[in-house]
Amino acid sequence: MKIISFLNSKGGAGKTTTVINVARGLQLKGFSVGVLDTDLHQQSVAQWRQDADADFFSVDVADPKSVQTIVNGLNFDYLLIDGAGSLGEEIVGIAKISNLVVIPVKPSPFDYWPAARLFDSLKPLNTPIAYLLTQARKHTTMTNEMIQTLIDEGSSFDSSRRRHTRYEHDKVAAAEIDAVINEILEVI
Ligand SMILES: Nc1ncnc2c1ncn2[C@@H]1O[C@H](COP(=O)(O)OP(=O)(O)OP(=O)(O)O)[C@@H](O)[C@H]1O
Ligand SMILES: [Mg+2]
Repeated sequence: MKIISFLNSKGGAGKTTTVINVARGLQLKGFSVGVLDTDLHQQSVAQWRQDADADFFSVDVADPKSVQTIVNGLNFDYLLIDGAGSLGEEIVGIAKISNLVVIPVKPSPFDYWPAARLFDSLKPLNTPIAYLLTQARKHTTMTNEMIQTLIDEGSSFDSSRRRHTRYEHDKVAAAEIDAVINEILEVI
């Protein structure tokens, strides 16, 4: 089982949205996918699963420290971990058991700085890490500068997420997510 975690302690970075879309995209490619929701308060994944009547599995982690124990009992092609914005030191433990860490980040310095601190703190673990630009508006100075910053950092997916509409209903969003998935699959 390959584990991909989506981490960023900055709230609203797009972690849950990306997890849900990537999970659905992988599922449409025929893979079995589990989603581990570590967000006790929002439980967005569980909620979404109910709303969308999707058939992939999700579990809410009662105690983020127990992630390892729960993970040991699961068996999917891919397990996606939706990191709660409120996660503290547990983030390192989650990154350690992951085959890939994706850091969704919005195109603004205030979003990039904390993401970069997270990146630096996880770097010594030797788990592959990639930034994923989310909620980017095309051709704005902010977006272009951010793309350049991430390129200079040398560890970012080329694909960025602009659109939000649910996967199946928006061709542009679906193409973006497919590009993200292809990049993920290249790494792991
Ligand atoms: N690609 C996108 N396009 C447009 N809106 C988006 C996109 N990704 C996320 N959003 C919106 O931004 C908000 C935050 O997204 P999301 O809940 O996925 O972030 P998060 O990182 O999981 O936040 P938290 O840390 O609170 O769990 C939501 O209102 C979501 O609908
Ligand atoms: Mg979330």
